Amino acid sequence: MLNNDEILQLQYVEKLKTIIEEKEKALGRKMTCQVTTFGCQMNARDSEKLLGILKKAGFVETESDDADFVIYNTCTVRDNANQRLYGRLGALKPYKKKNPNMKIGLCGCMMQEPTVIEKIKNSYGFVDLIFGTHNVFCFAELLCRMYESDSRIIDIWEKTDKIVEALPIDRKYSFKSGINIMFGCNNFCTYCIVPYVRGRERSRNPEDIIAEIKGLVDDGVVEIMLLGQNVNSYGKNLEDPISFAELLRRIEKIEGLERIRFMTSHPKDLSDELIDVMASSKKICDHIHLPLQSGSSRILKKMNRCYDKEQYLALVERIRAKIPDISITTDILMAFPGETDEDVEETVDVIRKVKFDNAFTFIYSKRTGTPAASMPDQLDEGTMQRHFDVVLKEVQESARERLKRFEGRTVPVLFEEVNDHDPEYIDARMTSNTVVHVKAPSSCIGKIMNVKLTEFHGFYYTGEIV
Ligand code: 5AD
Ligand code: SF4
Repeated sequence: MLNNDEILQLQYVEKLKTIIEEKEKALGRKMTCQVTTFGCQMNARDSEKLLGILKKAGFVETESDDADFVIYNTCTVRDNANQRLYGRLGALKPYKKKNPNMKIGLCGCMMQEPTVIEKIKNSYGFVDLIFGTHNVFCFAELLCRMYESDSRIIDIWEKTDKIVEALPIDRKYSFKSGINIMFGCNNFCTYCIVPYVRGRERSRNPEDIIAEIKGLVDDGVVEIMLLGQNVNSYGKNLEDPISFAELLRRIEKIEGLERIRFMTSHPKDLSDELIDVMASSKKICDHIHLPLQSGSSRILKKMNRCYDKEQYLALVERIRAKIPDISITTDILMAFPGETDEDVEETVDVIRKVKFDNAFTFIYSKRTGTPAASMPDQLDEGTMQRHFDVVLKEVQESARERLKRFEGRTVPVLFEEVNDHDPEYIDARMTSNTVVHVKAPSSCIGKIMNVKLTEFHGFYYTGEIV
């Protein structure tokens, strides 16, 4: 059943269609659009929604920067994403001068920061549409307002308790899909801006999630990725509370669905019930993304992560006791204020003990408004880089060591896309999320088949269909 917002927004999509039709008539050609995504999988999913509405309204997608409508879905988790956005925006200005028809939109996490809005108003006055994370579902309505008024629209909400789905979506892959199970975050890790720009935790009803997945499966999807900032606290605040493990049990029963992934898991909320469900499941992939951030209990405390080094290691042991072969990947944030060489050694120690299959390592980026930004002992750039380099080298070595275990095995892989460098190869993925390059025709894309892992290349394999 559609809710009132969904009904209203679908009406705006229809209205937008007539606006675009008229523009096309006047121009004597189709209107083009470009959607660019910065940041995480949640943003990637939001961008599929933006593109879904644009295409439904009649736009044709293009990769080029001179499109009639360009929208950047922004990220603000680290400052380099912000800087990249300003760079891209500056480069758009000449295109807009050439094409008086061109409109530029900005949305996503960066737009929830008042200082960013001020900067855009002052220095990038040619932007036509700005909205944030809470009203992304109003995209069709906002586009109608922008075209009808022919003036700049800025509409940022401070928060929302609405959950609006069921709008058109243009999936990047026909055979796999992300699906939001919850929005926002309540954890307030002291370095992180996400709770400020994505708001408090809200879970979708399990019935809506199941219905959406069934629809996706009917449409050819075999693998889903359940998305949330902290999936382990899914369902706690619903009227009828349900655990994430129970949600997984229900999703497992969906016929035709082959693979279930999820991210991200906060170590503090990972239950034994979830480990048991993963261990007994035939569909949940043998992979868990479990951000460590730091191996030093002292730093973890300052980060407000609510676990210490020993608890993290014990959790990994509990997981591996039930699922020995599981792939564990992580995020590590180096150079947090006050981090010493001893703290770096603690992180290295955890890396050596856990042996992650993969790790994303980041240099701490100061985010205005977060508690860490006003902590003393912010490190200088040289020290930051030194700490980062130590850990990067360590995770690369340990991942290489750990990934070797698959050599010679025959495993099922999902064929995903033609390899960028050699079109005779298809990039496929094991349930561990490890990439395998397989010589195969493109007709294999979307299928799950057994391949023998013949050669290990450090962080990926080549394999042969058996
Ligand atoms: N600086 C650097 N990295 C950060 N992350 C979150 N906030 C920051 C920050 N201020 C990293 C964390 C998180 C990942 C998505 O981004 O490691 O897990
Ligand atoms: Fe940020 Fe921590 Fe929430 Fe993750 S759990 S989004 S790092 S505040």
